[in-house]
Amino acid sequence: MSQADAKLSLRDVSVTYRTSRGPLDALGPMSIDVADGEFVAILGPSGCGKSTLLKIITGLLPPSGGDAVLNGAPITKPRQDVGIVFQQPTLLPWRNVLDNVLEPIRVQGKYSQEMHDKAIASLEMVGLEGFASHYPHELSGGMKQRVAIARGLIHDPQLLLMDEPFAALDALTREQMTIELQEIFERTKKSVVLITHSIPEAVFMADRVAVLSPRPGRIIHVEKIGLQRPRGLDTMALPEFTATCDRLRRLFTH
Ligand SMILES: Nc1ncnc2c1ncn2[C@@H]1O[C@H](COP(=O)(O)OP(=O)(O)OP(=O)(O)O)[C@@H](O)[C@H]1O
Ligand SMILES: [Mg+2]
Repeated sequence: MSQADAKLSLRDVSVTYRTSRGPLDALGPMSIDVADGEFVAILGPSGCGKSTLLKIITGLLPPSGGDAVLNGAPITKPRQDVGIVFQQPTLLPWRNVLDNVLEPIRVQGKYSQEMHDKAIASLEMVGLEGFASHYPHELSGGMKQRVAIARGLIHDPQLLLMDEPFAALDALTREQMTIELQEIFERTKKSVVLITHSIPEAVFMADRVAVLSPRPGRIIHVEKIGLQRPRGLDTMALPEFTATCDRLRRLFTH
């Protein structure tokens, strides 16, 4: 893939934070391209710069070095065509599900019937069509995170970024959400960058898994995942799945 074909292209991107104790190299230099409709998972140890990387892609933080390019244009400011889902669903308890999905639209003063219809469509996408008027306290953890995903999809973004979206969920819900997210991905065909600590989660969902070194995170390995789609519970039982997870695990234990 050439840089021109990529949806997202990071070239020699690095971040050095200025801190009271002097400069801190947090990330890179690192380079990666994400193609249109591709699902890339980023796997790396705690503190290696993964959230920092997402801040660059969302335009919240300019890189100290290198170039970050989305759709052929440099990323210079926060933008709407990138959807974000955080570790915690961050829902407003006093707003119902539909209004939580619409919250970013309201904050921007852009509410319209069209956006309302898009919010309903986003809720359908994540399987919550019957829950528009429910309040967050009436939902399970997994459902709340699905509301957050629906909110991330509201602008019909070109790119969906997720920073450990299932970290706060129990193991069973987490596995179920992993399968559901994979189905949402099959339906929407978005480009996705997923940050995770979980090797099986990364292998199950991604087309490619990029492994980062300890801080400052650099890409030490990229694994292409050839598992057939759509993927489901059966996928996790395949020898190829287990072998890929083992191979990646070895990169962290030496
Ligand atoms: N605003 C900041 N100012 C100074 N240093 C920062 C800032 N944000 C992060 N850091 C430092 O940069 C490094 C990378 O942080 P980052 O949050 O990107 O790591 P991470 O890979 O997301 O970690 P985790 O897996 O624990 O979420 C850490 O050493 C952190 O202390
Ligand atoms: Mg982080």
